[in-house]
Amino acid sequence: MSALLEAASLSKTFFSEHNALPAVCNVSFSVAPGECLGLAGASGCGKSTLARLLMGLTPADSGTVSFNGQPLDFADAALRKNYYSQVQLVFQNAAAAFHPRKSIGSSIMLPMLNYGCTKAAAQERSIALLLAAGLTPQHAEKFPHQLSGGECQRAAIARAISIKPRLLICDEITSALDVQTQAEIIQLLLKLQAETKMSLLFISHDITIVQEICQRILIMQSGTIIESGPALDIITRPQQHYTRELVTAAFNLTKI
Ligand SMILES: Nc1ncnc2c1ncn2[C@@H]1O[C@H](COP(=O)(O)OP(=O)(O)OP(=O)(O)O)[C@@H](O)[C@H]1O
Ligand SMILES: [Mg+2]
Repeated sequence: MSALLEAASLSKTFFSEHNALPAVCNVSFSVAPGECLGLAGASGCGKSTLARLLMGLTPADSGTVSFNGQPLDFADAALRKNYYSQVQLVFQNAAAAFHPRKSIGSSIMLPMLNYGCTKAAAQERSIALLLAAGLTPQHAEKFPHQLSGGECQRAAIARAISIKPRLLICDEITSALDVQTQAEIIQLLLKLQAETKMSLLFISHDITIVQEICQRILIMQSGTIIESGPALDIITRPQQHYTRELVTAAFNLTKI
């Protein structure tokens, strides 16, 4: 099956006064239509930088991102707008992703209005989305600071899927949540993915969560993808020493 999203040799180095920090080094991978792909690795290995490169939020030093076989030029506003109608990103800190003085309902409506939906249709769909995300129509009237972290993350997911993206990139979306809420958000994502058949790129330092959601996992270390394969193989037969340590540490911790 041809790739929906393809990253080819993406690299990004951050420079400070005295140091060069290669955050993403020559990373290549693809996401197939409808696939749930995981990206796991320790804190600081470059996962969020890679997500930002895929969204054009951080410019790559080299390499390309292609969508539907077309290489993207993030400087082209029309191409960018079309890309963002098909690829959405949800961050760890959902509260910060919402405008503090806009109601949750109007924030959820915004992408739909930007992409040509009428106000009445956007309003109706935002209520349906809140319900689908396990919230209530009353949440539409609230402001971000009036929602819990889990509710905010549900609202962020509702907003991201409002324009029916073909790929949803989730960057540590459960990291700030308690275990029960983490499980609920995972169930929500799995339900929405099954309903919409969208692709997922699920990014987390926690490989136990990644393997619950994803069929295939990429392992990142120091900016490089060091191993990739079916989730079951990565968990039960890791090839790289680093992956073995990541898996052992994660599952030992879970058992405690
Ligand atoms: N804008 C920036 N300027 C300078 N250095 C940066 C910048 N963004 C990230 N870095 C550095 O790049 C490296 C990778 O950071 P990144 O946020 O991509 O890691 P991560 O894998 O997402 O970590 P975490 O699991 O903690 O979210 C880190 O060493 C970080 O300090
Ligand atoms: Mg990160």
